[in-house]
Amino acid sequence: MPTLLLDLGPLAHLSGGEGPLTGQQMKDDDSLVETEGKGILIDGGHIQRISDSDEMRAEYVGGKRGFGLVGEEIEGLNVIEVGGRAVIPGLVDSHTHLLWGGDRSREMRWRQQGESYQSIAKMGGGIVHTVQQTRSMRLEDLISSGLARIDVALANGTTAMEVKSGYGLSTDSELRLLEAASQLQGVSIDSTWLGAHASPPDIERETYVEQILSEQLPAVIDSGQARSADVFCEPGWFTLEETEDICRAAMEGGLDIRLHVDEFVDGGGLSLAAELGAISGDHAHWSDSQARAEASAAGTLQCFLPGTPFSMGETHFPPASECVEFEYPWCAATDFNPNCQILSLPFIGNLLSQRMGVDPLASLVAVSRNSGYVTKHEMGLKHGMVVEGGAADLNILDSPFWESWCQRPGISPFAATMKGGDLMLH
Ligand code: NIG
Ligand code: FE
Repeated sequence: MPTLLLDLGPLAHLSGGEGPLTGQQMKDDDSLVETEGKGILIDGGHIQRISDSDEMRAEYVGGKRGFGLVGEEIEGLNVIEVGGRAVIPGLVDSHTHLLWGGDRSREMRWRQQGESYQSIAKMGGGIVHTVQQTRSMRLEDLISSGLARIDVALANGTTAMEVKSGYGLSTDSELRLLEAASQLQGVSIDSTWLGAHASPPDIERETYVEQILSEQLPAVIDSGQARSADVFCEPGWFTLEETEDICRAAMEGGLDIRLHVDEFVDGGGLSLAAELGAISGDHAHWSDSQARAEASAAGTLQCFLPGTPFSMGETHFPPASECVEFEYPWCAATDFNPNCQILSLPFIGNLLSQRMGVDPLASLVAVSRNSGYVTKHEMGLKHGMVVEGGAADLNILDSPFWESWCQRPGISPFAATMKGGDLMLH
């Protein structure tokens, strides 16, 4: 049955023009936010029409009223009274490591005792520890833990998600992670292969890179289960040369490129991402200003992941405000992983607005419209914005102010989330 949302409060639709928004456009409420009083007609998982609520009420349901967010069938339509609550797009989490097993909670104390990410990895913690735990999981268990995590993300307004492999580090286990990702549901999934996340235990990095190029990557390309390829390009993990070799082979196989770059030091990774024409250079925490300008010129988005330094007890965040000032395209995401267990994009909005000085509307654009260019909708629809013809993915806030989306740390700000036309009350 088609759905009719009536009596909306402010609608931060974020539509208009093409491509990611940059600079002042990201905070321009005149063009990105409609004042209250709109209605939305939804059918077949698409937004069919956005128009004046009073006119739509008269035209479709003879002026009748429904009950509230629970919905009521009137004239063959599921009528939902939004009651003046603000509406924003479904959020797009453009960087997650959703699928893994085990638990690395002990590492917090090790960090407080002075160990670094690098020294914890050398002690047998970090990525390789998670790899051992993940390899022993059955496909069904990977899927069910992924589904439970998706439920948490949905309750926090996420309707589309990138899911990376990367905790298998062998051809079979990486393929199993991509297979598990392909069986997830609840949000739109966009899969990325991250076989070059670390060297597996007991294999030299050079040997592993050869294995990737001769066996793992061709098998991933053959499987058709990854749209993009990613490499952890960072001193101590994969070098610029190794990253370039892997990416060029992936591009020949038709994959888009995402990269983990400059997370702990400026290793030149963002420049390489720009040179390769990557969709995004992620973390980009310590990249220099020239690399940021190169990325912008190449159309490579910087995907900031402030939850990672936050989770590691750091107080220095990547320079998102400067990127607004210089009109560089950027987005933001959770980086959900065993070391950063954040599944809430509103919490990332808290960090952007309450710690990094980013305007609340620009912060919203970063985790919806701009992330939607990096992470594609599984049916190829426009998403991360509320637009006629686009995906019927949106959030109804528990407030008449759209600004409330990023000002409730630790609490979901949403009264309801719509995914593909289905409304879930929270
Ligand atoms: O994006 N830095 C590389 N990968 C993840 C962390 C992985 C892990 O610690 O398990 C990240 O932060
Ligand atoms: Fe990551």
